[in-house]
Formats: sequence, C-alpha cells, structure tokens
Amino acid sequence: MILLLASLTLFGCGTDSSNGAGGDDDSKKYVIATDATYAPMEYMDDEGNIVGTDIDIVNAIAEELDIEVEFKNYGWEPLFTAVQNGEVDFAVSSITITDERKQTFDFSEPYYAANQLILVPEDSEVEKFEDLKDSKVSVQINTTGHEVVKGLLGMTSSKIVATETMPLAISEMINGNADAAIGDNAVINEYKKNNPKVKLKTVEDSAFEKEYYGLMVKKGNTELIELLNEGIQKLKDNGKLKEITGFDVE
Ligand code: ARG
Repeated sequence: MILLLASLTLFGCGTDSSNGAGGDDDSKKYVIATDATYAPMEYMDDEGNIVGTDIDIVNAIAEELDIEVEFKNYGWEPLFTAVQNGEVDFAVSSITITDERKQTFDFSEPYYAANQLILVPEDSEVEKFEDLKDSKVSVQINTTGHEVVKGLLGMTSSKIVATETMPLAISEMINGNADAAIGDNAVINEYKKNNPKVKLKTVEDSAFEKEYYGLMVKKGNTELIELLNEGIQKLKDNGKLKEITGFDVE
C-alpha cells in the first residue's frame, strides 16, 4: 500500500508540468531554489514560510510579469546543483554575480548591492581585514566571503572555519572557535541587531569590493534571463525595487 502510494506520488510529480521546471503552458509555475537561513534576505518565519527581502523582490517581479512562483528551501550548496540540473527554474539567495559562477550559470541584471563585513566580539582589537591574517575566521562555505578569506589566509588554510550556513559560522565565532566571522553586510548587521545581548561589533574595510546580487539560471536559458530582466527593469523604473531594499542598485 505504501509502495503504491509512493509510486503514485512520483508518477504525479513527473507528469505535472505546471509543478516543476520545464513545460510552458499557461499554468506554468516557476520553481525557485533558495537557502532560507539568511535573514533578512531569505529565511523561515515562525509559521515555516520562506520570507525576506529577496522573496519580496521576486514576488514583485512575478507580479510585474504576471507569472506564478514557488520557493523551495534547498540550502546553499544544493541550490547550485538544482539550478544546473534543471530541478528548479532559477535561484534567489543573495547570490553574488561572479566571473567564476558565470562560467556555469547565467545571471540577471543586478538587483541588490552588498559588501563583506567582519563580525567580532566587542572587545576584539581587529580594526581592518589585514588584522585577521594570523586569526581563525569563520564563513559560510563557498560564498564570496569564503573566497575573500582564502585570499588572506591561503586557499587551504586550516584557519578557515567553513560551515554550511551563515548562522553556524557566526556561532563558531561566538563559541570561540573563530576570532571573526565574515559575511554579507545585510546579514551580519541583522544578526547583530537581533542579538543585542551577545556583545559583538562590526568592522568595515574598504578593501572589500562591491558585490551585486543576481537571479541565477541554468547557463543558456536566455529566454528566462530576458523575462527576469524585464521584471527587474520595471521595478527599477517604477521605484518599487528601491521601496523594498531601501537603496538604488547602481
Ligand atoms: N553573497 C554571497 C555569495 O554569493 C553569500 C550568499 C549566501 N546566501 C545564502 N542564502 N546563504 O557567495
């Protein structure tokens, strides 16, 4: 009985084109992968809904384009695979547009600007990124923060504590397993704001380059990129993007 149900479910998924990537009938629903551990950009609210600034932006794009969207919480590394093998239509996850990623994926126009930010205990003497050159630093694995820290400490340095999520990276620092955590500014600032009892401070460094977030699709899916860009452009023109994020991207 259970086996029968399972196979029916599998069969159902495989044939319902409105419910997955691919299929271009009118009822097409775009399935979007994210890593919902990244407040305020993408996270789970108390009811288990995926919410946040990125989600608001994609919902606004969907409204402009009159398309249906559904978000799925894949986690950070799995979301790249999900886009690549066509399990989802695209990903939104504060993903920085980088040359390296552009070899495997296509990106929309930028919709958000960010930079790395250092988070340290309040009594830390760290004043700039360089000061961490003999320290242990925690980051979320395979993020741009991870890349930046590899640049300072060395590609394979054992001083890098690379965790699956950003909250875990921050915990490593708070627990004393790392001297500093490094990540995207909005997320570091949000953590500090939400945890006033943990005595922390942020350290900026102008050496960190400006980063731009884009929506990420499978390489070669030009049609979808054009569609998403149309939506982003509309939100830039009518001021709604700025309303959601609080600033102009470029
Ligand atoms: N912007 C950084 C990057 O692209 C970090 C993004 C992490 N996003 C997330 N939802 N965990 O590498």
